[in-house]
Amino acid sequence: MPKYDYHLFMCTNERPASDPRGSCMARGAGPLMEHLKVRAKEMNLPGVRANKAGCLDACDRGPSLVVYPEGVWYTVRTTADIDRILEEHVKGGRVIESLRMREM
Ligand code: FES
Repeated sequence: MPKYDYHLFMCTNERPASDPRGSCMARGAGPLMEHLKVRAKEMNLPGVRANKAGCLDACDRGPSLVVYPEGVWYTVRTTADIDRILEEHVKGGRVIESLRMREM
């Protein structure tokens, strides 16, 4: 079983536009996930894996991204947010308080 230093899960769940819960895909998770994969590969970070996830049950605060092993939850809105998470958190080991998901 592979072990990762950092394992990132990004919600790419999609619901119909009529669903009042909304979804991370409706909030732009698709291109953000693609950017995460490409950027992580470009940075050649050993021991880091990024995976798509189903609904993480934080739909109103998405697009949702959780970083393990710390279990830090982020709301990511832009590719710049992704870049910061990879540079500052995954590479630098510093949690980015300004991107942290708000509490329920
Ligand atoms: S749809 Fe992404 S957390 Fe629920």
